[in-house]
Amino acid sequence: MEKVYGVIGNPISHSMSPAMLNDMFETYHIEARYHAFHVQTGQVKAAIEGIRGLGVYGINVTIPHKVEVIDYLDEVEEVAANIGAVNTIVNENGKLIGYNTDGNGFIRSLNRVISNEELRSANVLIVGAGGAARGIFISLAAMGVSKIDIVNRTIERAKGIIDDCRFEVESHPLSFKEAEASLSKYQVVVNTTSVGMHPNVDDTPLSVENLAPKTIVSDIIYNPFETKFLRDAAKYGAITQNGIGMFVYQGALAFEKWTGIFPDTDRMERLVTKLLGGRTC
Ligand code: ATR
Repeated sequence: MEKVYGVIGNPISHSMSPAMLNDMFETYHIEARYHAFHVQTGQVKAAIEGIRGLGVYGINVTIPHKVEVIDYLDEVEEVAANIGAVNTIVNENGKLIGYNTDGNGFIRSLNRVISNEELRSANVLIVGAGGAARGIFISLAAMGVSKIDIVNRTIERAKGIIDDCRFEVESHPLSFKEAEASLSKYQVVVNTTSVGMHPNVDDTPLSVENLAPKTIVSDIIYNPFETKFLRDAAKYGAITQNGIGMFVYQGALAFEKWTGIFPDTDRMERLVTKLLGGRTC
């Protein structure tokens, strides 16, 4: 019988996950179908009970339900629990287990330009202190990255992430002025804020004049493909990366949790790029 998978969120109609994951199920000849479910606030518990009742095999969770779903699961993996957010649920014979593949998805996409070994000894700067920053910070700390600073407009939110992290890491919360002045000491800089996202394409979160050449600069935004932040960083000799990789790899890691197969991420990236407007990047 065809297995059912899906994604819950609100809004959900623009999600690229159904196209991306259905293509993978087809590619690997797995009899399964992945659907988008629009779940309203107040219906999350019922939705999770529905998964259990109907025997849905796996679910992705997106904004705004990633935190709330934790209350209704049987088990939450250590890193996801520390992040406080779940984006992937596996139904193991009626037992619902929550994972977070966002942070590891980011790390896997970063692995295209830096090995884990190099990453562990790098100085990393995270720009922003929202949910995305929390996932990336804790996942990096969990894999043994030893120095991760956070720059944020609201310094208390940066401190909150650092205080909540259960993994050993050396971190400083920074103002934008401090981060911009000391930018040359970082080998990896990642923007997790929405600054620069369509339609505000002329905005940038951080001035990059002090970047060292060959710094890896990543932006989790993928609309536009190249933000002003990435464009500016490239002018200073940075190796740049947009957010498509993180989106693709979080989906690939979810697919692997459900099927045991790590899928063809190049194919996934080509499909997502096409869905976003056909440009390759
Ligand atoms: P997400 O969960 O997607 O990460 P979020 O929790 O709303 O989203 O976090 C958004 C991040 O972008 C925060 O770091 C926010 O800074 P504050 O914590 O100071 O609010 C940052 N951000 C959003 N708009 C910004 C702006 N115009 N300038 C600087 N930072 C901004």
